Amino acid sequence: TTVSLIGAPTDVGASVRGAGMGPDALRVAGLAEALRAHGFQVIDRGNLSGPPNPWQLPVHGIRHLPEVTAWNRAVFDAVATALAMGHVPLLMGGDHCLAIGSISAVARQCRQEQKNLRVVWLDAHTDVNTEAISPSGNIHGMPVACLLGYGPPDLVGWSGERAALDAGSIDFVGIRSVDADEKQAIRQLGLQVFDMRHIDEHGMRYTMTEVLQDVDENTHIHVSFDLDCLDPIEAPGVGTGVRGGPTYREMQLCMEMIADTGRIGSIDVVEINPALDVRNRTAELAVEFIRSLFGASTLAR
Ligand code: ARG
Ligand code: MN
Ligand code: MN
Ligand code: MN
Repeated sequence: TTVSLIGAPTDVGASVRGAGMGPDALRVAGLAEALRAHGFQVIDRGNLSGPPNPWQLPVHGIRHLPEVTAWNRAVFDAVATALAMGHVPLLMGGDHCLAIGSISAVARQCRQEQKNLRVVWLDAHTDVNTEAISPSGNIHGMPVACLLGYGPPDLVGWSGERAALDAGSIDFVGIRSVDADEKQAIRQLGLQVFDMRHIDEHGMRYTMTEVLQDVDENTHIHVSFDLDCLDPIEAPGVGTGVRGGPTYREMQLCMEMIADTGRIGSIDVVEINPALDVRNRTAELAVEFIRSLFGASTLAR
């Protein structure tokens, strides 16, 4: 397997500045070296380029739409290129708005190859706001809605279908912050949300069994990993941290169980904010979890 690292150094979709430094934080934390030590070929494609963050107020409920569109175009093309070469693209964000481009490219490729796409959304937030209901206008709170076909026309339909995903092909894990109208959207769409209460009551092991139950040989798993999924005690370098997330051990198990399926096909690692971090701890933590996601374990290799 060859892993293509794609850097997208931007925070245009976020509420706090700093996530644009995420790609270099991951490089400094030794992401490529860790994957190579585990036997993978790794190509660091460097950083994509795009417009600077204009830091403006929302227009019609949405902030920085032209800039977010431009960055996602670049991400879409880079992820599509990596997939066409048979590589596993690993998007180093950047904020979570970039999942629009990344998952749209993955969905298009899966349709071409007639694979079943399953998205595992690891996050404190469900990111299913639209410009009509978002309390902030920040597009990093909207990527799931865009991928399901709801959002500004500029950000919808990139996979070739109106919806890159249907509600049944995405599962959320670690959720503990959902805005008022977002709750209603979740119910209306019938989204599968494994919130922190579910994990508290049933444990991470049972939860991941549920998430992964219909994975088969023909499944492509995309993991969209927002570092604010973790408890801020573990991962302080995020812009929208929320108390009460999975522990280090629970997140390791989550990654290991995904790895065990052998079906990981593409990854987003987003929302690392080095400006808020403590000695690059959050990027280092991300590298540990990505190793596990690629199958590193205590006793095997
Ligand atoms: N729900 C909030 C909003 O829409 C926060 C979203 C945070 N998203 C993220 N990817 N960190 O603004
Ligand atoms: Mn989040
Ligand atoms: Mn499901
Ligand atoms: Mn997110």
